[in-house]
Amino acid sequence: MTKNLVFPDGFLWGGATAANQYEGGYGQDGKGKAIVDVLPAGKNRKSVMLGRLDYKNLDEDTIYPGREAVDFYNHWEEDINHMIEMGFKAYRFSISWSRIFPTGIEEEPSEAGLAFYEQVIDKLVANHIEPVVTICHFDMPLHLVETYGSWRSRKVIDAYLHYSEALFKRFKGKVKYWITFNEINMLFHLPFMGAGIVFQEGEDEEAVKYQVAHNELVASALATKLAHEIDEKNQVGCMLAGGQYYPYSSHPDDVFDAMDKNRNIFFFSDIQVRGHYPNYAKKKLEQLGIQLQMEPADEEILQKYPVDFISFSYYSSRLTSADTSVGEVTAGNVIHSLRNEHLEASEWGWQIDPKGLRTTLNVLYERYEKPLFIVENGLGAKDELIDGTVEDDYRIDYLNKHMKAMRDAILIDGVDLIGYTSWGCIDLISASTGEMSKRYGYVYVDKDDTGQGTLNRYPKKSYYWYKDIIASNGASLE
Ligand code: BG6
Repeated sequence: MTKNLVFPDGFLWGGATAANQYEGGYGQDGKGKAIVDVLPAGKNRKSVMLGRLDYKNLDEDTIYPGREAVDFYNHWEEDINHMIEMGFKAYRFSISWSRIFPTGIEEEPSEAGLAFYEQVIDKLVANHIEPVVTICHFDMPLHLVETYGSWRSRKVIDAYLHYSEALFKRFKGKVKYWITFNEINMLFHLPFMGAGIVFQEGEDEEAVKYQVAHNELVASALATKLAHEIDEKNQVGCMLAGGQYYPYSSHPDDVFDAMDKNRNIFFFSDIQVRGHYPNYAKKKLEQLGIQLQMEPADEEILQKYPVDFISFSYYSSRLTSADTSVGEVTAGNVIHSLRNEHLEASEWGWQIDPKGLRTTLNVLYERYEKPLFIVENGLGAKDELIDGTVEDDYRIDYLNKHMKAMRDAILIDGVDLIGYTSWGCIDLISASTGEMSKRYGYVYVDKDDTGQGTLNRYPKKSYYWYKDIIASNGASLE
């Protein structure tokens, strides 16, 4: 029905990366240590990400893949040239907090850090690519973790606002789209990677997580306030790890369970968009016996400074049952799900569900009636470089189906979707596994899981395919 129809004028086609998995430049030009610098590859990665294994207890020969990543720090011009060549309208990237404030508590920002991002932003703007900046993407100065216990402390709210203010001021008039925290709901699932939390023995983990969540929510609202005060043109978004839960069966208990699990996904955005804790969350805190430490102005802050748009990642839908004895657990973007027999899966077991993207877009739009922005989506796959390129038809197929689902959501359902930045547009390190071989990009980067490789870049078949999609504003979708 929608064949050959185009996306709205000004639709922000592009790609996304994050400093923690892409930038490298460890310690260069005064960069301070960040949490990603202590995230190991291999068997201990998960326990560290969960906050259950202290990164200080790792062996000396541990490999830390985020330290070099794919070295955008020293390849930024070449990489942006690829984005220009593909015709990107937007590029989402994150700033490394410890490159701007090495310990997080300095008075003055690092000039070298700001200058690095300024040249990146200037090149984007000169080529009509809208920068979309994530202020905090699984990344913060390690000093804040070690000194204050990370986001447990309100001191980190102040540090985050000081950092955000430095960015808003320096990039005023150049950056309009800001995202306060990447996948803010991930802190419930990977507390160290998401929010720098290492649990102490005997601690009430649920209580810590909700307090950290509250502190981040206040920080996000105050950053939104600041962004608007510094430049009224600024648009600030929340960002959630999206993907609807489906009920495993039509049994009412499964339907209720799916609704309840979806609330966990929406907990943060409900507050960031609507400006208050929903009743279901208040009741849940009561039932868990958790008393949040709030300051008198907190509720007013949350109320007064909601976000302007909702951004989210989408890799798959999820499946749940009230009956814990049924179904088989599947791999996916960290958050628990049962395997859906109707779906195929990637080589990493992540299920593929383009229609689920259309559902997610509709659910989010109906819930919030604010512009939506898909800032991550894509297929993590093993690629083979042959004769300087990769014939990645599987990736093209995945992207094509998801883009058609977006088109249906916009043109048939009336969803207000402003852009799409696919994940890892240039190959980068996987967040969940630390592997290089899980590739999402249009550009292949020569590096392997052991860290060996030239770091040379090679456009894949999907590079030229995406270039056509952007040039035709979606009309060339199959
Ligand atoms: C999202 C994150 O969870 O998914 C990214 O925001 C991450 O940082 C992406 O890379 C894909 O996950 P993975 O584990 O395949 O890298």
